[in-house]
Amino acid sequence: MKGLKLVLLMVLVTGVAAGALSAAETASVDKGKALFNDPKLGTNGKSCNTCHRDGKDLQKAGNKTDLDQIVNACITHSIKGKALDPKSIEMKSLLLYIKNLGAKQPAATKPSVGC
Ligand code: HEC
Repeated sequence: MKGLKLVLLMVLVTGVAAGALSAAETASVDKGKALFNDPKLGTNGKSCNTCHRDGKDLQKAGNKTDLDQIVNACITHSIKGKALDPKSIEMKSLLLYIKNLGAKQPAATKPSVGC
């Protein structure tokens, strides 16, 4: 009986740990939105949302192929933060959030501007 309880406990702990891990390793629009609104992404008290309120003016930016570079330029210039690894969950989530803003918008025609 003791053994069975131990096995059950181990299954439970492994399951919870795996769940937490997979949740942490998946990029999502929600995580991107949280980062977009998070002043802690930078160091000058501003967040992306300070200037792009609810993603304003970024609806067409989702089609840009160099969007990760633009986002990093914005992080380093506008909010004085550290550039993100393009392969990181944080960058992928921010890109998902920005792309999601313009899901129903026509393709961008303006050249990249950046911050
Ligand atoms: C201090 C104000 C400010 C902050 C903070 C800021 N931006 Fe910007 N951003 C601008 C301005 C100004 C432009 C250039 C004008 C334009 O194209 O709308 C721009 C342009 C952009 C573009 C290109 C838009 C396009 O269609 O070419 C993206 C993408 C972008 N910002 C994302 C972000 C992200 C992500 C953050 C947070 C890390 C951020 N910005 C923070 C002011 C800001």
